[in-house]
Amino acid sequence: MTAMADRLLDAMARAGARRYGGEVVSELEHALQCAELAREGAADEELQLACLLHDVGRYAIDQSLVADTLEATRVGPSARGHHELGADLLAPWVPERVAWCVRMHADAKRYLCATEPEYVDRLSPASRRTLRLQGGVMSPDDVARFTQHRWQGDAVALRRWDDEAKVVGRRTRSLNEWAPLVRRCVSR
Ligand SMILES: [Fe+2]
Repeated sequence: MTAMADRLLDAMARAGARRYGGEVVSELEHALQCAELAREGAADEELQLACLLHDVGRYAIDQSLVADTLEATRVGPSARGHHELGADLLAPWVPERVAWCVRMHADAKRYLCATEPEYVDRLSPASRRTLRLQGGVMSPDDVARFTQHRWQGDAVALRRWDDEAKVVGRRTRSLNEWAPLVRRCVSR
């Protein structure tokens, strides 16, 4: 049986050929840029891993299960957000904090839209469109609850790197260079 780390690395390698939904870079470039920004921002290994894997729900999952997609897939009745599906896929294999940050990266966008008025303007058009599919701007009650979580700062940091990780032609480490960290942090 192939180890989960290798299954994820395979899925990522194949995601090099997929456009990151409605954006200008591929899914793989987006993941690598997000992880690179985390590393440059002195994030620890768990948070770097969460950044690298945050969108697995967009390319390692049957897309008919994904509700917040802009692609012309047929969305099934029990479809859920790509962040939820990705986090569920990872949860048995990664530290709890990694899966939590992946799960919350759409909520972190909803949170930033509620707390930083100028944040919405900085979102890409695609990201603004999926905001609606992900529940829209966060309510004051949910903002208060989210703010209290011990990993809230991690989820918000991931989200900011996520938003910046869409630059055409940006040079990053290769997927191969991330493989040791993935094998170290994803259990067998
Ligand atoms: Fe992303």
